[in-house]
Amino acid sequence: MNKKSLKPIIWDDEKKELILIDQRKLPNKLEYFICKTYEDVAYAIKEMVVRGAPAIGVSASYGMALAEIKNEDILNAYNTLKNTRPTAVNLFWALDRCLTAYKNGRSILEEAKKIHKEDIETCKNIGIIGEKLIDDGDTILTHCNAGALATSAYGTALSVIRFAFYNGKRIKVIADETRPRLQGAKLTAFELNYEGIPVKVITDNTAGFLMQKGEIDKIIVGADRILADGTVYNKIGTYSLAVLSKYHEIPFYVAAPLSTFDLTSKEEDVIIEERDEKEVAYIDGVKIIPEGVGCYNYAFDKTPPDLITAIITEKGIVKPSKDEILKLFNK
Ligand code: MRU
Repeated sequence: MNKKSLKPIIWDDEKKELILIDQRKLPNKLEYFICKTYEDVAYAIKEMVVRGAPAIGVSASYGMALAEIKNEDILNAYNTLKNTRPTAVNLFWALDRCLTAYKNGRSILEEAKKIHKEDIETCKNIGIIGEKLIDDGDTILTHCNAGALATSAYGTALSVIRFAFYNGKRIKVIADETRPRLQGAKLTAFELNYEGIPVKVITDNTAGFLMQKGEIDKIIVGADRILADGTVYNKIGTYSLAVLSKYHEIPFYVAAPLSTFDLTSKEEDVIIEERDEKEVAYIDGVKIIPEGVGCYNYAFDKTPPDLITAIITEKGIVKPSKDEILKLFNK
């Protein structure tokens, strides 16, 4: 890991506390949010102190561990944590692993530590494998934050970008600001700039114009859930970018760990989170739409497989097709 890399999730083994970078405060303040109970962890996930599919999975597993340490009702903790955010499947994957460990008489804390450690390794491998797709001189567009802040380290889409940079490729990153919560402007720009990786922020509606001008070579995004047929759920706006990339014949890559795949759900089973209208209606506490007008605030959208060039995982790069995806799982 780079000396300057951010550690968004820290487990304090002495104090038995989970320490999270408070992502609501970035980029202006690098502050930490301490979780002493599973309820604190549930709050942190719901309020987006911690966000990003792998990061919420890892945090939730420590939430389960906190319930175990305090001799609390494990099923209660499981259900509370499960009901924080509905779309990213890593949350349910991690909670189920912890529950299985508990039911089999194993330590939840040890399982949480394992999930945490695996996530670091997994994200590293995504970067090492995916960076081969990047050419020297590429300008890469990314959306939201699929970086170190969204995982335990390195990120997914940003791991690919990081490893290309670490390997000396002269790349530039364009970060969509990603309304309404501005994860691109606030988080992606912060973490890349923190490591000296060249990044510029654009408003979301600038992406098409840059593609038309021939200024984008590749697009890489993360994912919150990938179905067996390669349908990708990710931050709202991902679908629009994928359509634009098809029109402009720009490769569109999705980088995600196997823990983001959901091989059993169908499209109708997936809940797209709808968040408070206020996130759209207000900017920095100032109301920007007229009184009495409502807003849509879908947090995620759905990108069909025919718009995706390939999916980069820790086990290799695959086409978004059922055959190739099942092979990743040895099925
Ligand atoms: O609402 P958020 O900030 O949790 O959404 C995050 C994303 O959509 C990311 O792209 C996704 O979780 C992948 S993170 C490696």
